[in-house]
Amino acid sequence: MHWCIEAVLKVFPAYAANASPVIFSRMNLFGLRRPLDGGKVAWDGKRWLGDGKTVQGILLGPLVGVLFGFLLRGYSTPLAGFLLGFGALFGDLVGSFLKRRFGMPRGANAGLLDRLDFISFALAFSAPVVRWEPKEVVFLLFITPAVHRIANIIGYLMRLKKEPW
Ligand code: CTP
Ligand code: MG
Repeated sequence: MHWCIEAVLKVFPAYAANASPVIFSRMNLFGLRRPLDGGKVAWDGKRWLGDGKTVQGILLGPLVGVLFGFLLRGYSTPLAGFLLGFGALFGDLVGSFLKRRFGMPRGANAGLLDRLDFISFALAFSAPVVRWEPKEVVFLLFITPAVHRIANIIGYLMRLKKEPW
């Protein structure tokens, strides 16, 4: 199999994890769809993270990561999936934290920050258990903004997302 396809299979738990909060965003599982920052504002008077970052999302990500790590036997493992999923959702939180500090409201388009925050942390967090070749990292950082954009357009058309970015 071509190394590009293998790289996508290896990172797939991160993509699935990152999409999972959006897919479940209409449901309030166990009442966990509440803001992770508890609605609190930071020193600058802006929200720490905002209403788009929920407890449900941060729990779903690693769970879905583990599931795909298991399903993609041979390319991933449940532990790799966990680290990819947790890394993806953690990176997404870092992205939102920075957006709020820049004064951007929830849902604002932050361009490459929105498209690369999750993948950067997913690759870094999984690095202790996944052997990432430099060319794989470059390839994945290159394709992810496009993958993310297409996934968001699909989510928007399916009325799961308010914005197509
Ligand atoms: N989501 C969630 N919990 C998370 C991450 C995402 O519930 N930890 C859900 C929310 O419904 C969110 C949607 O997935 O609105 C899309 O995620 P994202 O685009 O990252 O959030 P935004 O609403 O655009 O907010 P932000 O400006 O902070 O990125
Ligand atoms: Mg967004």
